[in-house]
Amino acid sequence: MSSPNLWCQAKQPCTNPADAPIGVFDSGVGGLSVLAHIMQALPHERYVYLADTLHVPYGGRSAADIERLTIDAVRWLMAQGCKLVVIACNSASAYGLQAVRQAFTQVPIVGLVPAIKPAVLASQTRHIAVLATPATLNGALLNTVIAQVAAPRGVTVSKYSLASLVPWVEAGMPSGHVAVGDLANLLDTLSAQAVDYLVLGCTHYPFFQDYLRAQITQTGARLTLIDSGGAIARRVVSLLKTANLLRPPSDLPPLTLVTTGDIAQTQAVTTRLLAQYLPPRVVEFQHCGLMAQ
Ligand code: DGL
Repeated sequence: MSSPNLWCQAKQPCTNPADAPIGVFDSGVGGLSVLAHIMQALPHERYVYLADTLHVPYGGRSAADIERLTIDAVRWLMAQGCKLVVIACNSASAYGLQAVRQAFTQVPIVGLVPAIKPAVLASQTRHIAVLATPATLNGALLNTVIAQVAAPRGVTVSKYSLASLVPWVEAGMPSGHVAVGDLANLLDTLSAQAVDYLVLGCTHYPFFQDYLRAQITQTGARLTLIDSGGAIARRVVSLLKTANLLRPPSDLPPLTLVTTGDIAQTQAVTTRLLAQYLPPRVVEFQHCGLMAQ
């Protein structure tokens, strides 16, 4: 599963393949919500998180653009000697997963698709909704799951996209943002349609799920939120265990957080988001200028 050459090419060569980092990639800080689940399951692993904040948001870009950016990002993570890569971005997975799995066969690449299946299986009203970027909503990954899982069970899946959400999270979720009103309107709509499960189909969204839950409780709506973070963490554990590549418990290595954009802005936002979701961890911030412009 791993190529010896890969370790030699790494910037920080690992004598023991299990010591190599897990690479996690997102268009911005959203993938940290997935990283939080993986780090909780595997606290002793080394992690390199790549945020392409220079090009965020991906959600409104063309398929070709997203594929090119995803290939650039995964190539960079491969050069760091990662033993496994997680594309912690539904939009990048929708248009880049197939291409990177073909281009980089040395290590497993885990992609994301909105958690439609558990929502379909649990829905009582037989009407669920998915909130995601236009890229994810139009991509084949999501629509295949809808066709194979929801349609045969007679469950309706309504699709929603709110352009304000990713910029809101990237800005650190300031109050008074247009996203707050957009979410309130969405909750009204879902309630009127008797939707009982809302799938958070973008890795940025779990950062505001506590806020959303409080709003749901306040309005008395019966709506459950679901995301893919826990399932992805279980998949990563299983792949590494099978390949005998789990790093043995020892120290808690620092988290390497790399941005293609403004390092001070990324540092400010990620410190806030990580403090909310992860146990204290030393974070080393770096800038990476290797991506195509
Ligand atoms: N976090 C990403 C996702 O899961 C992408 C958001 C964006 O860049 O538009 O789709």
